[in-house]
Parts: sequence; C-alpha cells; structure tokens
Amino acid sequence: MKIVALSGSLRRASLNTASLRAAQELAPAGTVIEVAEIGGLPHYDDDLRAAGYPAEVQRFRDRLAGADALLIVTPEYNYSIPGVLKNAIDWASRPPSQPFDGKAVAIMGASPGLLGTARAQYQLRQMLVFLNAHPINKPEVMIGQAATKFDAEGRLVDETTRDMIRQMLASLTAWARRLNPALTDAPAA
Ligand code: FNR
Repeated sequence: MKIVALSGSLRRASLNTASLRAAQELAPAGTVIEVAEIGGLPHYDDDLRAAGYPAEVQRFRDRLAGADALLIVTPEYNYSIPGVLKNAIDWASRPPSQPFDGKAVAIMGASPGLLGTARAQYQLRQMLVFLNAHPINKPEVMIGQAATKFDAEGRLVDETTRDMIRQMLASLTAWARRLNPALTDAPAA
C-alpha cells in the first residue's frame, strides 16, 4: 500500500511536516508513506494548463494518481488551509483524470492553538466533496498546542497523539482496501 502525503507548510521547522515524519514512522507494516513536494509548483494559471501541464505539475499529478491513498497534513492559516496547499490541490483538480477522484484520503494538522487546525480541516473536507475524494471520518487528528508535543529535534513525543496517528493510518488503509478491493492483501504463498 502506497500513501502519498502532502504537507501544507514549507518551513524547515514545521510542526506539520514533523507530524508527517511521525506518520511515516508509525505506518503499518506493508504501508509506505511518500512525500510529494508542493513548494516548487507554479501559481495556478489556467493559460499554463491550456498550453499543457508544466512538467513539475504533471509529475505531481502522476504522483497522486499512482497513490493507493492520500494523506494531507495542513497548518491553519487565517482559519483556512495555506495558499501553497490550495494551489497544489487546484493543479491536481483539473481534467483529465483528476487524481483525487474516488481516492481514500486522511487529513491531519498541527497548530499552536487549542483547536489544532479544526477550522482548516473542515474547509479541506468541503474541497474534497467537489473532488469526489473519500476522506475517512475518524479519527480526526487535530494536534492542538502542538509545540508542547514535539522535542527540540522535531520528534513527536506525545504518546496520545502518536496513537491517534496510528489509528488514523489503520483506518485509512482499511478504507482504501474497501474502496479498491484489488488492494486486499495477497494470500500468503
Ligand atoms: C497562522 N497561524 C494560525 N494558527 C491557527 O491555529 N489558526 C489560524 O488561523 C492561524 N493563522 C495563521 C496565518 C498565517 C499566515 C500564519 C503564518 C500562521 C499559526 C500557525 O498555526 C503556526 O505558525 C504553525 O506553526 C504553522 O504550521 P507549521 O509551519 O509549524 O507546520
């Protein structure tokens, strides 16, 4: 099972990217989480698209298309998702064969505030309706007061949060298998 993940924060010490690293560590056996970088994508411009997707955009779309499931890790900016993440989603969302269609998705986010990106996550869920993606409902991983949950090296040390991420990944992989029975584990040889 291959999960492709996006982080909506570009900064080196990002709490969200640190959460994504924790998810990579906590992935169930047989599941790999690869990161698709979004910081280098051009600003969405429909004239560019009409002339043919720029190479980096096409590569990004192909990464998403090749995933069995997606994980979106988002900060909250002004009660919404960051522009850099919206830009990536907008590029991915256009025809042909937009790669969110029918795909299992999980969402998580970290913020210093108490609500742990709840408002941004619900806006993202609204976008996923238009994209006909299938986000898991639970568990919702909203990492509030996030700075207290990582050590100085950016390792997630809060056991409750680590456990939530484990549960989220178990839920995501089970959901992806339900949506795509071809992903069912092969019988042991
Ligand atoms: C923020 N931050 C923020 N936090 C929050 O909980 N709700 C919000 O609406 C906002 N708005 C916001 C806007 C902008 C432009 C910035 C730069 C920041 C704070 C934000 O959660 C904090 O900087 C996080 O640490 C960002 O995530 P990373 O970069 O640590 O992953």
